[in-house]
Amino acid sequence: MSREIPVLSSPIPAVSFPEQRAAAAERRRQFPFRFPRDERRLGGKFTVAENARRLLRFFYFERRLAQGLGSWTLSIPEFEVKIETGRHIFWHADAARRLRERLHEQETRLHTIDNFRDAEIDTFIEEMLSATDAPELLMGVHLVAGQALETAYRHHIDDTDPVTDAPTIRVLRQILLDYEPMLSWARQAIAAYIEGGIDEARLEAWRWHLARLLASIGGVTGADERAPRPATLRIDSQPYVRGTVPRRDSRFETFHHTGDYNVADGTPRYEPESYEDKRFRFVRTQRDEVDAIEAFGTFLWDIRFQDFQAEYDLARITWDECRHTEIGHRAMLTLGYDPFELPNRLTSSTCRGPMEPAYAMAEINLFGETGVIKTIHELIDEARARDDAVVAHISDFIRADERTHVRKGQHIIQVMTDLEMKELQQRTRELFTECLVSLGAIKPNMDAFVLSREELERLIGE
Ligand SMILES: [Fe+2]
Ligand SMILES: [Fe+2]
Repeated sequence: MSREIPVLSSPIPAVSFPEQRAAAAERRRQFPFRFPRDERRLGGKFTVAENARRLLRFFYFERRLAQGLGSWTLSIPEFEVKIETGRHIFWHADAARRLRERLHEQETRLHTIDNFRDAEIDTFIEEMLSATDAPELLMGVHLVAGQALETAYRHHIDDTDPVTDAPTIRVLRQILLDYEPMLSWARQAIAAYIEGGIDEARLEAWRWHLARLLASIGGVTGADERAPRPATLRIDSQPYVRGTVPRRDSRFETFHHTGDYNVADGTPRYEPESYEDKRFRFVRTQRDEVDAIEAFGTFLWDIRFQDFQAEYDLARITWDECRHTEIGHRAMLTLGYDPFELPNRLTSSTCRGPMEPAYAMAEINLFGETGVIKTIHELIDEARARDDAVVAHISDFIRADERTHVRKGQHIIQVMTDLEMKELQQRTRELFTECLVSLGAIKPNMDAFVLSREELERLIGE
């Protein structure tokens, strides 16, 4: 005999055999283990299609934030803000990667994801990037866009089905792990700007303007009720273009008339080419890789939308260069220096800033990073032999990073140019020779003079 049990959620009744039902209950009673109860229940607000629509917008915002912050790396003067921004570029690119993978799992083709564009989001991003200075940039990126995304992610976690859509929840939670320190840092940084004299009313007016613009496109999800769009936008009169000049804050002394620290110092601190000189140059080069943050961040903007993997790798390299800068800064302290007493080399960023990305990338990757790898083995061996623990420790990690950069650089360069390697290197040498001559860092001593690879590695370094 079976018994029909009406089911509220379905017009089809359950057909149960009472003896089987009773036997199941008895087996459950006798089963000895009381495992933790999973309290999640079926049900959520979204279909797979609606999930994909929202995640695609999240992906697009994250991708555009990574690119957009990249475009500001040259223009941010304050050391701490430049470094932190370099890190945030990767947090956003990595969020984009996670969302992209989740979208792909839910049957959105990678081609569709990578080619997704939204003109309204673009307007918002370009207006946000039209900040007049770094405090306005932080206001827009973190307290308008970042804050709105964080809220949207939390809501999505609450609203989607916790069982059927658990992977989306996990992805969003992992993204939020980066958001929490990022937004908290941004709030403190903006407070520091205000305490240091930046007009709070100006920043607040800018925040309000961008918040209204975001509301006019239905918020980050596009699903909110739309508010009227602000009457005028900065980009209406002037489209956004990235800066080309590397900026430093007032604690730094800078030079760009030479690539050589000893020449810049006037009086060398150590015997040139001695171990003391080489280790000191290495540490200074690391701190001055603040210019590598600028290089790779800028490339991310300049080659935007050509290839997601290349963008992702550039974002990761940018973060690595932030670490190298921090390593250099801290190592200077360890060696007994005030990091701001050592002038900062602006030579390479001054040349690369306005340059086409393929040549700037060829310079930093094929000459600079490759050049580091050539000399770093010897430095590590010597540091170890002399028990120079700080330099041995940091150069060991930096070698691993730079080798990785050289490897990733191959794909990035392919995305940037169709030129043959020989031609690319030749043109790069010509352009940098020209630039170094114009800066007075070298004197042309013959017609059609072009720096050799070795000279370029030495003069620009990385
Ligand atoms: Fe580096
Ligand atoms: Fe590097």
